[in-house]
Amino acid sequence: MRTSVRPSWGELPEAVRGSVAGVLGAGVVDAEVQGGGFSPGLAVRAVLGDGRRVFLKGVETGHPVHPVYAAEARINRSLGADVPVPRLLDAWEAGGWLLMAFEDVAGGHPDLRPGSADLDAVVRLLDRLPRKVSPAPVPDAPGVAAALEERFHGWRVLREEGAGLDEWSARHVDRLAAAERDWMADAGGDCLLHIDLRADNMLMRGDGEALVVDWAYLQQGAPWVDPAFLLTQLIRAGHTPAGAEAVLGKAESWRDAPPGAVTSFAVAQAGYWERSSRLPAPPGVPYLRGYQAAMAEIGRRWIAHRTGWS
Ligand SMILES: Nc1ncnc2c1ncn2[C@@H]1O[C@H](COP(=O)(O)OP(=O)(O)O)[C@@H](O)[C@H]1O
Ligand SMILES: [Mg+2]
Repeated sequence: MRTSVRPSWGELPEAVRGSVAGVLGAGVVDAEVQGGGFSPGLAVRAVLGDGRRVFLKGVETGHPVHPVYAAEARINRSLGADVPVPRLLDAWEAGGWLLMAFEDVAGGHPDLRPGSADLDAVVRLLDRLPRKVSPAPVPDAPGVAAALEERFHGWRVLREEGAGLDEWSARHVDRLAAAERDWMADAGGDCLLHIDLRADNMLMRGDGEALVVDWAYLQQGAPWVDPAFLLTQLIRAGHTPAGAEAVLGKAESWRDAPPGAVTSFAVAQAGYWERSSRLPAPPGVPYLRGYQAAMAEIGRRWIAHRTGWS
């Protein structure tokens, strides 16, 4: 599925392309645009003049998503050497762009489908990640509940707007709206959270371990929140809700999750998707709303599984 519209290397201003040699010691001789994600930013796997391979991502400093990229540079500078991410080699501004160079990882995205050999690596990653980023290595990370509060109230908004909902949602909208805040009370903690775990934000390394990429949101909270974000991605990849929960059951961070909070989180996340999918597309991001509509349907299935609401 195509998800993003990204610039090619050649489209970038000369001052931006030329800056790589100054910072990394050799210029780009080949650059392959990477799909995945929804961002309109630059994402290329590049070969440098001296044969080294790097991953380059960046965005214009005036672009609305620039603060997200700036946060990604800040977060990655703070992560310890034992955190399973590609190392940030450098981050700099040139020609009106912010650029980041990461260690290149060749293995591609993990296959999250049932039976995939990559699932064990993904669960191992979820299992050990919280310990490596607690307490959060970046100072002043906002709490996840406060950070998401503004967006995670979709059911209340949809109910107030009298939005045309599907039959199941319309039947349950009152209790959905009532349940979408409860998770926040159990989401506190000092674990740095990624909150965007999907197959396209993970990469397989040659040794069979999974790495996280695109760590761009500065938030901290309870360790169960990141597995909760991944759960609907497993359903999307073909697991049943029960099967997806069983996969994550091998990760300590998920096993410790308070069940009521997880159910409320499932409600809040689906409400976010349901509501967001109805908003106009952000400039340069044409595929996001369709994805959110599909995820809202998946989110409803997860809620029905956890609550038994039919
Ligand atoms: N270090 C890396 N090495 C190789 N490919 C990478 C690396 N980091 C990201 N990618 C690829 O580029 C894609 C986009 O990168 P990502 O950091 O997720 O950017 P965005 O914020 O634009 O989604 C990823 O889905 C992945 O396929
Ligand atoms: Mg991404």
